[in-house]
Amino acid sequence: MTSNEKLKIWVRETAELCQPDSIHWCDGSAEEYDKLCNLMLKQGTFRKLSEKLRPGSFLCLSNPDDVARVEDRTFICSRLKEDAGPTNNWADPVEMKTTLTRLFKGSMRGRTMYVIPFSMGPIGSPISHTGVEITDSLYVVCNMRIMTRMGKRALDALGATGTFVPCLHSVGAPLSPGQRDVPWPCNPANKYIVHFPEDRSIWSYGSGYGGNALLGKKCFALRIASKMARDSGWMAEHMLIAGVEAPDGRKTYVAAAFPSACGKTNLAMLIPPAAFKGWRVWTVGDDIAWIKPGPDGKLRAINPEYGFFGVAPGTSMQSNPNAMLTLSQNTIFTNVALTEQNDVWWEGMTDTPPERLIDWHGKEWRRGSVTPAANPNARFTSPAAQCPCIDPMWENPEGVPISAFLFGGRRPGNVPLVFEARDWNHGVYLGATMGSETTAAASGAVGRVRHDPMAMLPFCGYHVGDYFSHWLSMKNRFDGDARFYHVNWFRKDASGRFLWPGYGENMRVLKWIIDRTRGVAGAAESPLGFLPRPEDIDLGGITGFGPPEQHAARFEELQSINRAAWREECVAQKKFFESLGSRVPDELEKQRITTQASCT
Ligand code: GTP
Ligand code: SPV
Ligand code: MN
Repeated sequence: MTSNEKLKIWVRETAELCQPDSIHWCDGSAEEYDKLCNLMLKQGTFRKLSEKLRPGSFLCLSNPDDVARVEDRTFICSRLKEDAGPTNNWADPVEMKTTLTRLFKGSMRGRTMYVIPFSMGPIGSPISHTGVEITDSLYVVCNMRIMTRMGKRALDALGATGTFVPCLHSVGAPLSPGQRDVPWPCNPANKYIVHFPEDRSIWSYGSGYGGNALLGKKCFALRIASKMARDSGWMAEHMLIAGVEAPDGRKTYVAAAFPSACGKTNLAMLIPPAAFKGWRVWTVGDDIAWIKPGPDGKLRAINPEYGFFGVAPGTSMQSNPNAMLTLSQNTIFTNVALTEQNDVWWEGMTDTPPERLIDWHGKEWRRGSVTPAANPNARFTSPAAQCPCIDPMWENPEGVPISAFLFGGRRPGNVPLVFEARDWNHGVYLGATMGSETTAAASGAVGRVRHDPMAMLPFCGYHVGDYFSHWLSMKNRFDGDARFYHVNWFRKDASGRFLWPGYGENMRVLKWIIDRTRGVAGAAESPLGFLPRPEDIDLGGITGFGPPEQHAARFEELQSINRAAWREECVAQKKFFESLGSRVPDELEKQRITTQASCT
């Protein structure tokens, strides 16, 4: 329990509303975790994986109707509609609270209500904030214990008078007396992921999956925190944080915003190719960065999370050995396939699938089957501390100093591998106009390019035009230099093949970026910004990029732009800005006009 009056009152009122059978205050201990996992084993929610092959790990298969974030059921309920802006679903906060109160009434009947105090960020860091999630999902409790610093230590840090973000969650599946529970309770018909940015509170109903239910993640650390950040002069961003160590031992930290499932985890855990002796990449975070100007005048970043909720399909010892080692134990797997040895498998983990599997629907699966064995958005939940390349500074309460911001997405055509912004404002323009082919969580067709400013389209908790102004204003809030880069690992040739080998070879791009921040790498000016020429980038020993004598030509192809097509891109940007309304700062339109004019 707690001495925090506000928390006590909120828990009491919530219990009165939701009418659970009992209340459990989570202490975050290992004993508690084991007990709750065992409970889920008994209920059939969890399946224990081989203790030999995957120690301390569990498989969980969700309801097939509850497998990803639901952007079309996500709401920002500011008092004024204009404050949510054109990129968010808005609803009137008073009406929404009435709707939600009706839904939550009795929603936890027959279940236990868990109270999860958690810290986003290292406890005691001036950049961290506290939340409390109330949930009726055991799955959420166990995932929150991996994803956040949870339990007694967070409650102690909160103390009697500390403030917290209340995060209320119910799967929306009350049990009547004697009713048997299902392995994955949820409400397929009715889901609401609702944010009240002005009271800084979250209500989530009907889903048990990922960002819909682990409310510390997207709901708090991005949607609510982005609003808190704007109000107090810092930034909450959908960015990985990585430290790049050079052979001379100096480490340069970069933060990179890529949309969901576009390679943040991969880049954060990159292993340099053999030719890059003495270079190492250290992981601070793989999804979210909270960035504040520090007392030293530098931009300081922390990873508010404590674990990784990573995309499983495509992860292998070839594509991301550090992730594979991270998830070798103490991991919760959701919607992957089960092997005959009681281990996990997913598409891309090995070249040849096992002959027989149990797929993510719990059905027999045979090699050669047309349906995938794992859901494309299957995830692993693993403690960050298990990552072999976790940065020794990852829990530093002061954060790490950021020298460069990267923006990128899946762009099959006409977007170079890498280019550098001319200055802060130009960098903000690059972030504001970035786009990507859509992935699982977005509604509508997968594979269409959509504008996704700073990879925050589904996560900015207020008007995106104000968000751009906030980004522009940040340059006056710290001293020193942070540069901006646009990257694209996903450019394709005419036959649809990736032009760039990607993964570890992205180190070559990182090295150019690091060298630029140190002032030792060359570049050529272009309408888009500064482009590395073939001689500026180290391609020695690269694999998957053709014979050495063709490297320079291939690189030029990768960097080339069709100016007429780029003018079209600028026209599309104009339409995009117009669709966002009058709060888009003039400075961005100025940058756009300059770019379009120089593409002649
Ligand atoms: P969220 O957790 O959803 O925010 O996503 P994320 O950005 O962390 O995604 P993740 O790192 O899991 O990206 C997974 C997808 O990106 C997989 O399909 C990978 O194969 C692909 N990917 C990552 N890096 C590269 C690369 O350098 N080149 C190519 N072609 N694909 C890549
Ligand atoms: C994303 O979709 O960007 C994720 C996964 O990181 S989730 O936690 O479900 O939001
Ligand atoms: Mn993400």
